[in-house]
Amino acid sequence: MNLLSVKNLTVHTEQPSGSINILDNLSFGLEPGKSLGVVGESGCGKSMMAFSIMGLLPDNMIASGEIQFGGDLLSLPEKELCKIRGNRIGMVFQEPMTALNPVLPIGFQVAESLRLHKNLSRHQAQKQASKVLDRVGLPSQNFSRSLYPHQLSGGQRQRVVIAIAMVCKPELIIADEPTTALDVTIQEQILALISELVEEENMALILITHDLGVVAENTDLMLVMYAGRIVERGPTNKVFENLAHPYTRGLFASIPDSENPEAVQGLQSEFSPKNRLSTIPGRVPEFWELSKGCAFYGRCSRAQAKCSSEFPDEIRLTLGHSAACFFPFEQNQ
Ligand SMILES: Nc1ncnc2c1ncn2[C@@H]1O[C@H](COP(=O)(O)OP(=O)(O)O)[C@@H](O)[C@H]1O
Ligand SMILES: [Mg+2]
Repeated sequence: MNLLSVKNLTVHTEQPSGSINILDNLSFGLEPGKSLGVVGESGCGKSMMAFSIMGLLPDNMIASGEIQFGGDLLSLPEKELCKIRGNRIGMVFQEPMTALNPVLPIGFQVAESLRLHKNLSRHQAQKQASKVLDRVGLPSQNFSRSLYPHQLSGGQRQRVVIAIAMVCKPELIIADEPTTALDVTIQEQILALISELVEEENMALILITHDLGVVAENTDLMLVMYAGRIVERGPTNKVFENLAHPYTRGLFASIPDSENPEAVQGLQSEFSPKNRLSTIPGRVPEFWELSKGCAFYGRCSRAQAKCSSEFPDEIRLTLGHSAACFFPFEQNQ
């Protein structure tokens, strides 16, 4: 039984050039307690997917389809969504400074969520908030609850954001590039903290990243997005055993060796040393450039005539693993 079921989610917006689909017919499910990695280059629609789930899409975007989470979130009025956001769905974004209120003490900000959603007294909420701040690595002996966000480092601020996201014990956490704005040395610690907390509380996690290595190390399942569509999906270990879509292979090939986690090291023989540090040639097409064929056509070394004229539906490769490619698994040239 899924905790979250996204069905045919399409998000469109009007541009001077006409109507474009920022997200095109996304469907996926997530069971309670499972972690889902969503990976793709910048501009692929990862954040818009997260914003759709949380009802936070920009005003000029219109979502259709269904997002089942108890009921259909897309048809809930804002007042009902407010009861879910921060309570049943916790959020961690890329930039902690924008997620936090600069003029309120950190203890207050964590407690506020409890007061809003759990109806606790001020004292109870403060006590509970302090415990959660302890748990995310900000013990009260060293980090007064009356500190302001600007008095903390970037990593510490992100710990506060994580505390706010977790304090109501949501069923689902959505973390959108939670470490992209942090120093490399801090990134691992923050990811480890998120993974530990999600496991402890048996929360489901959607971890959005442009880094395939992060997905390999932290998730049970994964989706690869390209130009607003899902191009490959499956249990993370299965996808890494057999990267099928040329786009996923390209993402993999652009991970520097030193960052390749063990899970992907065994696969390196599939790529020539020349390719290993390469980045994918070209760029993500603008939405108005998409034609009726595969969106990756212009950058793909395997592309054939068919790819430019027909859109490849997802095909099932092994149980749970599928890719939207006419020529999956073939080696890149
Ligand atoms: N307010 C907006 N109006 C129109 N297009 C937007 C807006 N915000 C983002 N986009 C476009 O939506 C696409 C998906 O963006 P986004 O979901 O932020 O990508 P990602 O998170 O994968 O980097 C991008 O092409 C971006 O230019
Ligand atoms: Mg984004």
